[in-house]
Amino acid sequence: MNILFFGDIFARPGREALARVLPSLKEKYRPDLIVCNGENLAHGAGATETVVKEMLAMGVDVITSGNHIFDKKEIADFMEGENAPLIRPLNFESGSPGKGFYVVEKKGANIVVLNLIGRVFMKREYQNPFLVAEEFLKTIPSDIKIILVDFHAEATSEKKAMGLFLDGKVSAVVGTHTHIQTADEQILPGKTAYISDIGMTGAAESVIGMDARLVIAMFKGEKVKMDIADSKNAEINAVFLVIDEQSGKAISVERIRMSGET
Ligand SMILES: [Fe+2]
Ligand SMILES: [Fe+2]
Repeated sequence: MNILFFGDIFARPGREALARVLPSLKEKYRPDLIVCNGENLAHGAGATETVVKEMLAMGVDVITSGNHIFDKKEIADFMEGENAPLIRPLNFESGSPGKGFYVVEKKGANIVVLNLIGRVFMKREYQNPFLVAEEFLKTIPSDIKIILVDFHAEATSEKKAMGLFLDGKVSAVVGTHTHIQTADEQILPGKTAYISDIGMTGAAESVIGMDARLVIAMFKGEKVKMDIADSKNAEINAVFLVIDEQSGKAISVERIRMSGET
């Protein structure tokens, strides 16, 4: 199973960059499944039904998310809809709208996409992602072999720990949220593909997608209203996973890092 997995798609520069590169990436990698993280789709903060549908029209199959997903509250209704392909971390506060996992059928096989969020350096209190993951995996029928985990977290220590915790139990653990790609893609001993962070797709001349001048002013102690960056150039970050369909074990993980116009 060939899978293209994009990290946080950041605002219009990210969506437009993805639209521009996806045809050539599809040509090169022949993905059976495309997943992206959509917590920053709508002007960097949350998602709307319109931008989600924009992603689906490009060929994205499943959209994961993270701490920003309910920044635009109206998206909750869409996520509560039947079989909505936009999910939120399973270990969010109990009672959160939407679902924490999605089952998609490709090449006659059911694939589970699970979304989790970390607790280190995060502002809100979430349920323990390790315990929630452990319980969730007990509910997966044995005929489902391919399980992909988006672990949306800040600390590389928590992410690597999750990778090793789930090693051999899932096909891939990929990190999102920091927007910065890490160079540690690997196949763990139990044949689980792993990367600490895929990195974002968004404006290149920015601080994780935001207007650098405003972010610098904020760090200097000035009171500023944040806004997204609108640079001419974009960066596109993703991983390409090849998973054995019979066993669910990862065969390869390749890091993709490109630049181009927004
Ligand atoms: Fe993000
Ligand atoms: Fe995030």
